[in-house]
Amino acid sequence: MTKMKAIQVSAPGAEMELVEVDMPEPGPGEVRIKVEACGVCHSDVFVKEGVFPGIDYPRIPGHEVAGTIDSLGAGVSHWAVGTRVGVGWHGGHCFHCDPCRAGDFVNCENGVITAISRDGGYAEYMTANVDALARLPDDLHSAEAAPLLCAGVTTFNSLRNCAARPGDLVAIQGVGGLGHLGIQYAARMGFNTVALSRGRDKENLAKSLGAHAYIDTAAQNVGEALSAMGGARIILATAPDATSMTPLLDGLGVDGQIIIVGADAAKLEVSPIQLIPGRRSIRGWPSGTAMDSEAALNFSSLAGVRPTIEEYPLARAGEAYAHMMANEARFRAVLKIA
Ligand SMILES: NC(=O)c1ccc[n+]([C@@H]2O[C@H](COP(=O)([O-])OP(=O)(O)OC[C@H]3O[C@@H](n4cnc5c(N)ncnc54)[C@H](OP(=O)(O)O)[C@@H]3O)[C@@H](O)[C@H]2O)c1
Ligand SMILES: [Zn+2]
Repeated sequence: MTKMKAIQVSAPGAEMELVEVDMPEPGPGEVRIKVEACGVCHSDVFVKEGVFPGIDYPRIPGHEVAGTIDSLGAGVSHWAVGTRVGVGWHGGHCFHCDPCRAGDFVNCENGVITAISRDGGYAEYMTANVDALARLPDDLHSAEAAPLLCAGVTTFNSLRNCAARPGDLVAIQGVGGLGHLGIQYAARMGFNTVALSRGRDKENLAKSLGAHAYIDTAAQNVGEALSAMGGARIILATAPDATSMTPLLDGLGVDGQIIIVGADAAKLEVSPIQLIPGRRSIRGWPSGTAMDSEAALNFSSLAGVRPTIEEYPLARAGEAYAHMMANEARFRAVLKIA
């Protein structure tokens, strides 16, 4: 069996280790991808720490994958060796299989979650079902395409499906991997875009990405500051921290909505009195399908949205992950693999 290099987590809480494992063979309906780049997403914490149901260890993390099809499994006819593709989270978004309808998206029958239910892209090669593949535009190189397969599609897809219209006030909370793309998408979609971040470190960067205004949530009352601007139609909450979302509610305008993409198992504290006047609401948003990823990639290509990336070799994945967890990445760490 041919071997390949990969980063593996052997058990919940274990370090990320560089290992040699068998190169995977694509099964029926699957392709093998020669991975060129893989983004390091905050959701990799699910695999690293085991805080997600249904993970079998050892597991290879990585669900922001860009590469080239290297081999076709049985029955694959619409894809060719050499085609550049990306793979994201892929699972739990069909909303019509029995597990999805029961809220059990891990067992979604129409998606197998990359890096949770099967190995991901912190490796020289990975396999994926054809349903999970998005074509990469020619003008995006792999390292800049990779973050668009999760951070990109999640913010793009939640914003393109939201109720805000051009000119409306839209705030993006958290200027990290998701947030720095959310700012670019919101601005390119024509929203009056406000970046919300703790401290002033990221103010110039956020404005250079397209934010029209900036609120330092550590120094200012975010509810009052947004209300003074007329109240937000949409606040996209990307912080991995539920407590930080409660004060955002007071910054919503009439029919304002918080869209939660930041994942935290802690309870969100909200009073009915914060929701009733102004008909405010809260919703969650999971990333999207492979077609949504393709739309995010194509929009990024057309509108000039690009992630700001820091590149690491595969062997330094643990360092890249720690850097992201310490909120030091500006703004997405990407493993450059081939
Ligand atoms: N819904 C989905 O489909 C989906 C997809 C991908 C990721 N996620 C989740 O989205 C979240 C963000 O992921 P990411 O990759 O963007 O992470 P990231 O790069 O680490 O950025 C998160 C940002 O949130 C802010 N933040 C961090 N800790 C905070 C705290 N305790 N209180 C307030 N703000 C805090 C920071 O922004 P400032 O320094 O600017 O304050 C930080 O840069 C994670 O929970 C991830 O699991 C969800
Ligand atoms: Zn992700």
